Amino acid sequence: MFFLGMQPVIRVTDLWKYYGDDEQGEPALRGTSLEVSAGDIVALFGKSGSGKTTLLNLLAGLDRPTRGRIEIEGQDLEALGERGRTEFRRSRLGFVFQFFNLLPTLTAFENVFLSLELAGRPDPAAARAALASVGLAGKENRYPHELSGGEQQRVAIARALVKKPSIILADEPTGNLDTHTGTHILDLLVDQCRQTQTTLIMVSHAMITCQYARRILQMEDGVVMEDRSCEAPGP
Ligand SMILES: Nc1ncnc2c1ncn2[C@@H]1O[C@H](COP(=O)(O)OP(=O)(O)OP(=O)(O)O)[C@@H](O)[C@H]1O
Ligand SMILES: [Mg+2]
Repeated sequence: MFFLGMQPVIRVTDLWKYYGDDEQGEPALRGTSLEVSAGDIVALFGKSGSGKTTLLNLLAGLDRPTRGRIEIEGQDLEALGERGRTEFRRSRLGFVFQFFNLLPTLTAFENVFLSLELAGRPDPAAARAALASVGLAGKENRYPHELSGGEQQRVAIARALVKKPSIILADEPTGNLDTHTGTHILDLLVDQCRQTQTTLIMVSHAMITCQYARRILQMEDGVVMEDRSCEAPGP
């Protein structure tokens, strides 16, 4: 039917999201469509309240659209059902949050290892390697409160990367960090995604993110649009 590699890894068609039971009030997403190619590095900008987190949550199968279709690697998320979406999220998707979202009672190693366990691939060596790849060798046994904000976010990145997911969704991964640390985190995240051909969508308010993305999108009132206001520099 199609040539391998030509299929977009994410395809969103006419997506609507109303919060609440009926279609009252303003929708958070109003008929947006989007295709993302495998291995692409995408920055998603947009004003507060424009629908960025809503879109990411729907892509992750954490919430369901009111109408419209989401296909990930050709698979319709709605057709997967609740259990299928959980399985998809655990095994094939990485998520990085603004506030790190590490489990406070687990060490850095355990946070990363848990992600592998949930994916059905408990491999302690892989967890250690992932932490080393983000520069945290030697800090495996620290609890989140014993790590700096930047270090915690690196654990969160290791936790996302360790599963070798096809897609990583990052919702303001540097939003809670100072500029210097934030730049370092972006370096790391983008570098690792490039190396592993992982598709990355990162929500951001920081213009610095332009320099890391191959493609810039702008969310306006619940619709995603291409944005050429900050052309990424060459390779
Ligand atoms: N759980 C919810 N229940 C009701 N309305 C919601 C809910 N979550 C978000 N909204 C509304 O949907 C719209 C889009 O919100 P969303 O969180 O997606 O914006 P955002 O672009 O991520 O903003 P920010 O940059 O501030 O994080 C907003 O009007 C918001 O008030
Ligand atoms: Mg948000």
